[in-house]
Amino acid sequence: MSNLSGKAVEKLSKEEAVTELAALASEIAAHDVAYHQKDAPKISDAEYDLLRRRNELIEERFPKLAREDSPSKKVGAKPSSRFEKVQHAVAMLSLGNVFSDEEVSKFDESVKKFLNLSVDEPLGYVAEPKIDGLSASLRYENGKFVLGATRGDGQEGENITLNLLTVEDIPREIKNAPLVLEVRGEVYMSKADFAALNKKQEKEGGQIFANPRNAAAGSLRQLDPSITAARPLRFFAYAWGEISEPIAETQWDAIKCYAKWGFSTNPGTALCTSVAEIIAAYRKIERTRASLDYDIDGVVYKVNRLDYQDRLGFRSRTPRWATAHKFPAEQATTILEDIDIQVGRTGALTPVAKLQPVTVGGVVVSNATLHNEDEIIRKDVRIGDRVVVQRAGDVIPQVVRAIKQKRNKGARKYKFPQTCPVCDSHAVRDINPNTGKEDAVRRCTGGLICAAQAVERLKHFVSRQALDIDGLGAKQIEMFFADGLIKEPADIFTLEERERESLTPLKNRDGYGATSVRNLFAGINARRTPDLARLIFALGIRHTGETTARLLAQTFGSFKAFQEIAERAGKADQSAREELLAIDGIGGTVVDALGEFFNEQHNIEAVKRLMAEINPAEAVRIKSDSPVSGKTVVFTGKLELMTRDEAKVRASALGAKVSGSVSAKTDILIAGPGAGSKLTKAKDLGVVTLTEEEWLELIGD
Ligand code: IVH
Repeated sequence: MSNLSGKAVEKLSKEEAVTELAALASEIAAHDVAYHQKDAPKISDAEYDLLRRRNELIEERFPKLAREDSPSKKVGAKPSSRFEKVQHAVAMLSLGNVFSDEEVSKFDESVKKFLNLSVDEPLGYVAEPKIDGLSASLRYENGKFVLGATRGDGQEGENITLNLLTVEDIPREIKNAPLVLEVRGEVYMSKADFAALNKKQEKEGGQIFANPRNAAAGSLRQLDPSITAARPLRFFAYAWGEISEPIAETQWDAIKCYAKWGFSTNPGTALCTSVAEIIAAYRKIERTRASLDYDIDGVVYKVNRLDYQDRLGFRSRTPRWATAHKFPAEQATTILEDIDIQVGRTGALTPVAKLQPVTVGGVVVSNATLHNEDEIIRKDVRIGDRVVVQRAGDVIPQVVRAIKQKRNKGARKYKFPQTCPVCDSHAVRDINPNTGKEDAVRRCTGGLICAAQAVERLKHFVSRQALDIDGLGAKQIEMFFADGLIKEPADIFTLEERERESLTPLKNRDGYGATSVRNLFAGINARRTPDLARLIFALGIRHTGETTARLLAQTFGSFKAFQEIAERAGKADQSAREELLAIDGIGGTVVDALGEFFNEQHNIEAVKRLMAEINPAEAVRIKSDSPVSGKTVVFTGKLELMTRDEAKVRASALGAKVSGSVSAKTDILIAGPGAGSKLTKAKDLGVVTLTEEEWLELIGD
């Protein structure tokens, strides 16, 4: 995106300075939008500071050329450093979604099935409006507000205590509270306050926000709390994190308790006893939506009994005891101007619609996904068509359909490329071995020779959820890759050493002074002991997202142990595969992907070179102190005190490996009434067998 010359400021001619200042103004404004309005910065704070600094230097040299819209004249500029990180004692997770009444019934059925309740048994739920704001966690110790944090990636947020102290709805002190209490809820801005803020910003030449949510986000992440104080934020309490003693037995009572302590709780919350009632509550809330003074984007259903919530627990990143019933997505129509192909980290060719900018639900959209080749054909979308664009929540906007009645004569069909637009290698659609069908995604076969894939892999490696290297963002990766300085992850860590011997040192480059080079190396060196889960995620193994990476880190504890098992799985070692499959949340696709990755010699070598440079921290293994951790257990026969699913989830949470069949590796067989061949086999093999009660006693239930 950069239109900057990169020439040293003292060498710029007047004409060049004019162009450069214009480019800087628009580039910095775009980053402000990405950061403040979308909360999705494209560059690191350090890079952003560099751009602003360059703008200042040019203005210092040519004061008369300073533009009206110069970034140096704007208020509310982005803070130049980051907030302190906070580790959440209890993860701040997300919610699953449903979009139809039918899916609501399915949700209710799955809850009842897990709890071993019959489908027609009444089960209490609380229906709460889903506030479209930002979640925050407020920690109280001895009744005093001591720490406030953003959600961040769910595990680690940012310390925004000072900013939260400016929110009136947040009590600084609460009476008769547990010793430790983390109140969680949503920070938001009312529609009226949002409109007034934008008016004021317009008058003062400040930043205009696209919607109340972005305004709340931009306000909450101000490094200067006096700016936040001038922005009217509010807070609804609806959940909790760490808590030293229970505050209630039901969700409903917990919310009442919050109200008693002085928190704002949502008045639209309803206590229900059946699916019909929660759907009725949804309709009622949907009817009030327009008249509310804050944005909501759905209704959250939560199982009312907290003991049930505990038993239901969590899937990898969402609770089983709650779901969000979203309002239908927002749509708009615009013109499809062109189609671009993006080559991803795994070589996937994704068609991206280039649109005439249009506002969809308060956000300006100019790019949207067209998913894949087949979708373009199925929807018969042509370049030049008027199309319907949809945006639901935080997901990438998508082209839903073409409006064929309005098709322009000049509209032309798009021919999907058969070769990679970056490296020119063949792009093919694999046959899925399980279904025998052609994959929807066309992939570049260039692998290691494809620059797009290599760059995307490196960008992924340094990204926020992965190694999160300060001063090394997507833009620097592109630059260093183009210069041949960084070709693979290990190169990042040898950069400093090579810099010392380099004939063209970084610090002589334009835009890179001695300080920024020092900061870059400090950023890199700070990651020489990376978190194990982040490292595994950073490798970019297919199907291995953040959650899976965390599970692997917690299960194996060290990179060495992880790599060893993955390599064995790659060599079709059945016991290694089973060990991986025994992890709750890891299935065959992940195991195949891990095996494939560690079966490739070039991957093994690249990992080896990387490991010579870094020393990952050992991860805390899941409940390694429980009496059953590391043990392989098998359940058989009918369980009477809980369902099979619940029993498995609990065993895994205690660090046990749950297997489906008895073998010499089995440590414990839990046999209910009606146990057959597995029990016989276990006895033959001398495996410890327990009844369900004995098992519960062993795990201390
Ligand atoms: S409960 C473990 N209740 O929605 C689940 N979340 O899509 C904890 N949200 O991150 C969340 N209103 O920011 C819950 N009444 C409500 C909510 C709510 C808004 C947000 C929250 C969460 C996101 C998940």
